[in-house]
Amino acid sequence: MGNLDALVATAREARERAYCPYSGYAVGAAVLGADGVIYSGCNVENASYGLTVCAERTAIFAMVAAGCRSIREVVVATQDSGTPCGACRQVMSEFIESPEDVLVHCVDDSGGIRSLRFSELLPHAFRLGRDRG
Ligand code: THU
Repeated sequence: MGNLDALVATAREARERAYCPYSGYAVGAAVLGADGVIYSGCNVENASYGLTVCAERTAIFAMVAAGCRSIREVVVATQDSGTPCGACRQVMSEFIESPEDVLVHCVDDSGGIRSLRFSELLPHAFRLGRDRG
C-alpha cells in the first residue's frame, strides 16, 4: 500500500471512532510524521460544546506526544470532503516546516478527494519562529 492509500485507510478507520453525539458529523484524520509513523485522530465532542476537539488536532497532539514534531502529509476523512477548520490549520502550521511541500487531502465517503498544499490552505500563517523548545 502506498503512503496515500495507507493514510486514507487510517483516517477512515479513525472516523469510525469519532465521538460526535451532538453534531452527528464524524471526522477522522491521519498525519504522516517525519518519523514515517502514521498518527490518527477523531473528533471528540463534549456536552459543554466548546470543549470539543477536532480530529486533526487529536492526531497532531498524538504525534507530538509520541516525540515527533514535523508533519509530512495529512488526510482528513468526512462525509463531504470538508476542509480543516481555521483552528486546526493554525495548529498544523506549528509543525509544518515547508508549507509548499505538505499536502492536505480531504476525502469523502464515496472516493472523492480534494488535495491542497498547506500553503494554499493557510497563506500568511502566524508564526513566531522556529525555536520551539
Ligand atoms: N470538526 C473536526 O473534527 N475537524 C474540523 O476541521 C472541523 C470540525 C468536528 C468538530 C465537531 O465535532 C464536528 O466536526 C462539527 O463541527
